[in-house]
Formats: sequence, structure tokens, C-alpha cells
Amino acid sequence: MAKVGIIGHGVVGSGVASILLENADVLAARAGEKIELGGVCDLREFDVSYKHLFTKDAQEIYAAPDIDIVVECMGGKGLAYKFVKAALENGKHVVTSNKELIATCGTELEAIAAKKGVQLRYEASCGGGIPVIKPLEEDLGANRLTRVAGILNGTTNYILTRMREGGVSFETALEEAQQRGYAEADPSADVLGWDARRKICILAHVAFGTPLDDSAICSEGIDKLTQEDMLYARELGRAVKLLGMAELLPEGWRASVAPAMLPDTHPLACVNDVFNAVMVHGDRVDDVMFYGRGAGTAPTASAVCGDVLDIVRHPKKVGGRVECSELPALSSFTRELHLFLRVNVALTEETRAAVVSVFPQARFVQLDGEAFADEFALVTEQGAEDELLRRAEKLTAMLPCGAPIRYLTL
Ligand code: HSE
Repeated sequence: MAKVGIIGHGVVGSGVASILLENADVLAARAGEKIELGGVCDLREFDVSYKHLFTKDAQEIYAAPDIDIVVECMGGKGLAYKFVKAALENGKHVVTSNKELIATCGTELEAIAAKKGVQLRYEASCGGGIPVIKPLEEDLGANRLTRVAGILNGTTNYILTRMREGGVSFETALEEAQQRGYAEADPSADVLGWDARRKICILAHVAFGTPLDDSAICSEGIDKLTQEDMLYARELGRAVKLLGMAELLPEGWRASVAPAMLPDTHPLACVNDVFNAVMVHGDRVDDVMFYGRGAGTAPTASAVCGDVLDIVRHPKKVGGRVECSELPALSSFTRELHLFLRVNVALTEETRAAVVSVFPQARFVQLDGEAFADEFALVTEQGAEDELLRRAEKLTAMLPCGAPIRYLTL
């Protein structure tokens, strides 16, 4: 029998307890032995059937002699770091859904796990319930993986979908996402793109061997997007998505998070609501796409328990990661794209001339209706991202432009 202790009985931790109790037969059949809930640490009180298992002292979980696997679902870095480190040092396997912890302290924690001969698993840190980390390591393990791109945050995808399809405001959509348990405790991590940045950092690490340090990754969120941007996107046959992308090239690697306009026909364009999707390119398999619920109690707990099950089945996992630590982080993608820009003045001969002086091949977009009389939008010619962003800044100095959105020709 294997015993599991949970630290943090919130959105994810309560789901893990529920699976361990209610799907115990399924887990036992697949593991070949019983997997039992041995304890739960939380400072709050919960009126649940297993309240006798609760403690307010994390040490009673991470240092308990009979706990084999510690599941950390507290989130954040401070205490979670302390408890995960202590659990690993005590020879416990650790499963966590904590992307912030892994994307910042993962290198140190993985080293401790390796030294202690235990596993540190974090499938639930990326893509909620979607199995992606293990498939990259195992099922696609025969490939040189060179590209990962995806919709990695459920909250922002939910907000963008509601803004586009329900016509609701950003604030209302965010409130709904919070009520459904999708958003982080501080939802600015979702909205500003930090959560997606942590996830692309983790996925690039698993796929290419890049460092677990998300500070090297540029990110933009969806906080500057408006409902009007959605209308322009619709007019252009596109959908606005917050996209995380990472690429491995012979000369280096690059990862970033930014809003993008995707053609309606692109597989990622129809990933809506809280769903996430990850596209991976391998040299042998070509493109593979993973799709599922990116946030929420049950899907995320499903991923946590999948890791628990795998540890019970294979406690002595061998093998390691591919490495690319000698390669530098590059500042821009090599792929060429267009920018979409909104200009907050009427389209006159003068303003048109100003745009053309910066983007000679700009394609102008004007929406019908009085509300759009004093503004227009444009799609720039194709070019390197950095160069186009420099020119967009130049145009903004001449005309009041909104934040650019990458207009990808995927
Ligand atoms: N806040 C995260 C999201 C939770 O919305 O994707 C899952 O990681």
C-alpha cells in the first residue's frame, strides 16, 4: 500500500482527496496496490468525511514515516518551497501542481530529488488535466522536439471566449472565471501572462532541456485587449488567443507569451472556454496536439493523481532529460509575422499617409458603425517581430495606436 499526504486543501488539493477516496478502486486496480489518503494539511477547517485526517502542521505530512508521496497544492513559492524541499530531503516523492514553484526553483528541487532517489512530478503544472509532460518525455521520447506552442492558461482563454462569443466585458468574464475556480488567488498572474510564462518555461524545459527560470522569457498578457479587438479579429476571420511559444534552433532557443490573432481555421483558434491545447513538433512525429480542460478542480486533480499512480507503479524511474544548457536564449523568433494595430483617429488622407510612411504595405481595416468612425486598424506587412515592433513604436509617436497584437500566419 502507498500512502499520500496532501498539503493545501484548496481548489486542487480537495479534488485530489476526492479522487483518492472516490476512485480508490480504479487507482488500486491500475497501481496493483492500494493508494490511501494518509493526511491533509491546511490551516482552515473543512466539514468533510475525512476531517479526522487533517492537521495544521505541515511537518506531520512531509516528515511522517508512513507517508510515501507528498502532494503539494498550496501554490505560491514561500511555504510551498520550504515544504517541498523538506519532503524531498525526507525521502518522499513529491507531486505538485505549482507552476510558480517549478518555473523558479525547479532546478534546485529536481537536483535534491535526484540526490535522494525520489521523484518530483509536475504534470498538473501545465495544461490542467491535459497529459502533456509525460507524453513529451515518454511517448514522444524518440523525437528531437523543436517547437511547443499553445494556449496554456484557462482563465484568459475563458475570458477571451466570453468576450468574443458572449459579448461580456473583461471584468465580468474574469469574475466568472474566478467563481469557477479557474483563476489564481491573485488573478493578475493569469491576466498579465505570468502563469502562461511559467508553463511555457516548464514545457520548454521538458521538451528541449532549457533552464527552469522563467525570468528569461518575455510575456505580455491580455489586460490591454478590448471587445473591439475581438470585433476586428472577427472581421479578419481570426481569433485572439494568448499564445505561449517556444522554439529550439541550432543557434539557441526562445520562448515568449503574447496575444496573437490566429486564422479561424487554425486548430488552436477553436480552443475555447477553459480548454487549453498544446502543439508540439518532433523531428519524427511531425505535429502533435494535446487538448483538454486547462484549469479547475477535477481536471487538475486528475493530472496530480496520474503522477501519484505513475510513481506507485514505477517508484524507481530511471533516465533523464535532453540538455541544451550550452545554447543561449535568443531575443526574437526567426519566424516572420504581421502586427495588428488599432489607431485611435479617423482614417483620413493624412493619417493614411502617416501609416504608409512607416508600413508601406499596410492593409487598412475599417469597421462599420458610428462607434468606429474615429478609429481604424491595420495589418502590417510581414516581417521580423522585433523590427515590426520598433516600427509600431515609431507610428505610435505619430498617431495614437493601441497595443499591437501579433497577427500570425501559421
Ligand atoms: N489559473 C490557471 C489557469 C490554473 O487559469 O490556467 C491552472 O493552471
